[in-house]
Amino acid sequence: MAALACQPLERPPVWVMRQAGRYLPEYRALKAKHSFVEMVRTPELAMEVTLQPLRRFAFDAAILFSDILVIPEALGQGYRFKEEGGIAMEWRIDDRAGIDRLGKPDEVPGKLAYVQDTLTMLKTELGGKKALLGFGGSPWTLATYMVEGGGSDDFERIKALFYTDRKSFDALLSALSSSLLAYFRMQIAAGADAIQIFDSWGGVIAGPDYEAASLQWIRQIVAGLPADFPVILYARGTAPHVLDQSFSGIRALSVDWTNDLTVVRRTLPANIAVQGNLDPVLLNTTPEIVRREAGRLLESMRGTSGHIFNLGHGILPQARIDCVASLVETVTEWR
Ligand code: CP3
Repeated sequence: MAALACQPLERPPVWVMRQAGRYLPEYRALKAKHSFVEMVRTPELAMEVTLQPLRRFAFDAAILFSDILVIPEALGQGYRFKEEGGIAMEWRIDDRAGIDRLGKPDEVPGKLAYVQDTLTMLKTELGGKKALLGFGGSPWTLATYMVEGGGSDDFERIKALFYTDRKSFDALLSALSSSLLAYFRMQIAAGADAIQIFDSWGGVIAGPDYEAASLQWIRQIVAGLPADFPVILYARGTAPHVLDQSFSGIRALSVDWTNDLTVVRRTLPANIAVQGNLDPVLLNTTPEIVRREAGRLLESMRGTSGHIFNLGHGILPQARIDCVASLVETVTEWR
């Protein structure tokens, strides 16, 4: 929280995106007994999975175990993970009728009451010793899954909607923004110390259209949250937009590994924190290489304030436990 406030610190705090997940044997053991969706929906299991990485490593924050796709699900468009990997939505939004088929944004918090319960339990469990992070997808990133019907290679359908039927596109993004605002307010009331918005697919829309397709909706959500509540925006492939993003009302910008973090730090206003941005693939190498590369990143940021150490994207299932240990040690022992 101090790093989010850009206060000077001895070392940056550290957590990693998807820190609860398939690289952990204890996660895979639980997954053998319960489906992903069951774990997300059962507060005791979601809390257990959230805490698993904190028992092994000295991470400074816990992130709610859930998924960005709970929002489409709460709106009536369920999701599942395919055997061969990847995501399939139960049905696909093909036209205006598909958008009109969605439920009401004000019903979302009630449908996701299990998230409230999970956060409330986590808040007590953590006892204020670690930051508790809530999260959700950006309206644009969620819309890609809903209109593509799952993951996508070319994003042809969502782009077609954006360019050929802006009215329907705006209706969908507006409904998602209202849903996310209600959902984030609920997460904050339940004890989230900060919220991270994942604009994972922000980089696929043409640069001049990033504002209309994605950033304006994020700005609208942030404006609806309590004044000064810390929001972290993670966006992938959006290096040309870092300055615009930093003026969207957020407290911190989380960038992918293609950015030079020192340049981002110098570019953004001093009251905006930066988060990132080690290449997640490094955690599949060796502890020595992780120590060297994490050390380089730390040294490059020496003397700056408002840095939260993280990866440039989620940790991969192939990540080595000894590499994660090496990363956390390197950061927490650094002075
Ligand atoms: O960071 C954390 O530990 C919190 C939990 C979290 C998950 N998903 C758990 C998860 C968070 C923050 C997310 C966000 C999320 N989900 C995003 C945005 C972040 C990003 O990675 O860009 C996106 C795009 C999704 C949608 C999603 N969920 C994808 C693309 C996948 C992978 C599908 C696959 O088969 O590879 C998921 C699944 C998922 N979400 C897993 C976990 C732990 C793995 C599920 C499993 O155990 O099989």
